[in-house]
Amino acid sequence: MSAEESVQSIENSATEVIEHADSLSDLEAVKVQYLGKNGIVTEQLKRISSLPAEERKSFGQAVNRIKTQIAEQIQARHECLEQVALNQQFLDQSIDVTLPGRSGTIGSIHPISRTLRRMEQIFDQLGFNTVEGPEIENDYYNFEALNIPANHPARAMHDTFYISDHVLLRTHTSPVQVRFMKEHEPPIRIIAPGKVFRCDSDVTHTPMFHQLEGLSVDEGVTFADLKGVIIHFIHEFFEAEPKVRFRSSYFPFTEPSAEVDMGCVFCGGKGCRICRYTGWIEVLGCGMVHPEVLKHGKVDPDKYTGYAFGLGIERFTMLRYGVSDLRYFFNSELSFLRQF
Ligand code: DAH
Repeated sequence: MSAEESVQSIENSATEVIEHADSLSDLEAVKVQYLGKNGIVTEQLKRISSLPAEERKSFGQAVNRIKTQIAEQIQARHECLEQVALNQQFLDQSIDVTLPGRSGTIGSIHPISRTLRRMEQIFDQLGFNTVEGPEIENDYYNFEALNIPANHPARAMHDTFYISDHVLLRTHTSPVQVRFMKEHEPPIRIIAPGKVFRCDSDVTHTPMFHQLEGLSVDEGVTFADLKGVIIHFIHEFFEAEPKVRFRSSYFPFTEPSAEVDMGCVFCGGKGCRICRYTGWIEVLGCGMVHPEVLKHGKVDPDKYTGYAFGLGIERFTMLRYGVSDLRYFFNSELSFLRQF
């Protein structure tokens, strides 16, 4: 084989290998194999000086020609492989818009908040505004102003958490009555929902629970107004018309006072475990605001009268949704909460 022929066969074999290189790293190896420092083409260039003078020129030209051609072929193959790699990358990263979406988990309203919203809505329609009072109270508003002086037996029933001698966690929402009266002239129509605290914990009691207080003060407000509002509220809240009865009772801050029972919504009044076979369920306390309490609120008892009521929000929620255990409201169990 002449020198020219052997150079040509190098080019042919290079063309073949370049075409078969199907990754950029393979191609890089081919480049080293032919054009590298000790590559096949480079070796031919080194041979030039050992050739007879008359062969050098044409041999040199031939080697340089294939060197350029091989480099061009490698470059062309390089561009082609790059394009293939890019296409593959696009393919891998493409988004299948026909796949079903991943939906987020949607939270739900806590049953206590849900009840509270329902209650606010019903009372709003009756013209009651929602107001708030502090959870950390003082002795005066929690007891004194509500006609529960020191040593009054009612204090013992409240299981109060004291922070200091005269500062405590409110044991009921009733203190908001006096706070509001002091700041506002009648006519007053408010509800005051919120957290209350009692040092008590068993199956039916938690140290924190929620109450809703109601207060209406104006000229000529009577017990009949109280009855009308309470009966309407119970019917609206339970979306049913159970019987409602007012049973004479005692609270220091109302006179006369009553406890309200409604016909058991579970057995329709026939008697069941929930109503302890009485057919009645006690739902709230109420009465006409005691003149002493009006005075503490800077309201003239000779001119104005009022009624008040207080109810437990957990209790209403249990009765409305048939929840059997108070502790469900507070242990953050998702399987329970998701039902609302
Ligand atoms: N504060 C009472 C309690 O926690 C509930 C109550 C009873 C509130 C009668 C009232 C009321 O406003 O008139 O047990």
